[in-house]
Amino acid sequence: MTKVKPSIKADRFEESVIREMTRLANQYKAINLAQGFPDFSAPDFLKEYAKEFIDRDYNQYAITWGTRTIRHALSKKYKEFYNLDYDPEKEITVCCGSTECMISTMLGIVNPGDEVIVIEPFYENYGPDAIISDAKPVYLQLTGPDFLITREKLDKVFNKKTKAIIINSPHNPTGKVFSESELNLIADYCKKYDVIAITDEIYEHIVYKGKHIPIASLDGMKDRTVTISGVSKTFSVTGWRVGYILAPENITKGIRKIHDFLTVGAPAPLQEACAKAISESNEYYSKLKNFYKERKDFFYNALKHIGFKCIEPHGAYYIMCKFDNFGFDDDIKFTEYLIKEIGVAVVPGSSFFSDGNPEKSKYIRFCFCKKMETLENAIRRLRKLNS
Ligand SMILES: Cc1ncc(COP(=O)(O)O)c(C=O)c1O
Repeated sequence: MTKVKPSIKADRFEESVIREMTRLANQYKAINLAQGFPDFSAPDFLKEYAKEFIDRDYNQYAITWGTRTIRHALSKKYKEFYNLDYDPEKEITVCCGSTECMISTMLGIVNPGDEVIVIEPFYENYGPDAIISDAKPVYLQLTGPDFLITREKLDKVFNKKTKAIIINSPHNPTGKVFSESELNLIADYCKKYDVIAITDEIYEHIVYKGKHIPIASLDGMKDRTVTISGVSKTFSVTGWRVGYILAPENITKGIRKIHDFLTVGAPAPLQEACAKAISESNEYYSKLKNFYKERKDFFYNALKHIGFKCIEPHGAYYIMCKFDNFGFDDDIKFTEYLIKEIGVAVVPGSSFFSDGNPEKSKYIRFCFCKKMETLENAIRRLRKLNS
């Protein structure tokens, strides 16, 4: 047996809790409301496009920063939707999901020791992303139920060493959609301290209340913003691994180099299929919003009725809840109980908070990107908590 150990860097973070919950859900045959992937079919039109491009033998490497078709489709979409001009040749990069977009961006802009502000609670990848890229994560702690960004909070985290701030709106896990005034406040600090905004907008089309505003569209921000999004959530194809980055040319140059040597490129026929879907999906986006609103309304009300203290999401497809009235005060223990005894898998809230945050063990997160019948079955099981 070799004595070689994992690297010091790999030892500095744990395996994904969310994906571990999926493993446990399978082991205990629990309904999986942990990991954010749909249990229903992807849109037929998108599947037909994928078949078409595989049949037409789009089997070889695409251009490393994305097929011409998808970059041009994205450029047109960002102009139409957000009035943002991105040059498809120099400012758009396609990666293997927004997960790779984020790590390529971090490796493309951060130097060892640079501070990167992470808004907390946070999507669990951002912590390891900071470690992998040798950044120093600085947590901007928001508190429920409003998770409001204030000048006071920004004053505490911005300084001369700050290189970037990671924003995620609509937000996983809280469902918050950051308001224009909050984004303007962040923008003011980014301009004052010459900081890059890295914004994960993967849930841009899943908004129930308020409006999704890309921070890049605010005054003076386009030149200092890296916008990340992708098809995983919008088209219910988390396994296709197609995400994209829109950023000014000087920033894109570094990101593209990192992306090229990390993965070469995202799947070529799927990029072609997504390009076609992105070009013609205006009607689809509003249907998607209604589809998830129906699930959100049903699931949020049913959880509240059972006794969970839920934060009503304004976007994305998660519900964060407090659970102290069920006789538990620790999210990990409660999650284990839910999986093993109740038959519903969720994510313990601690995976969205840094150590030492007083909110760390108080929440669990449900995801509701599921068939109505899956959600109804989960509610039936969760009612056992009251018996
Ligand atoms: C905020 C956020 N960003 C990124 C991702 C991953 O996206 P992708 O499948 O494009 O890598 C997720 C998945 O749950 C997410 O919630």
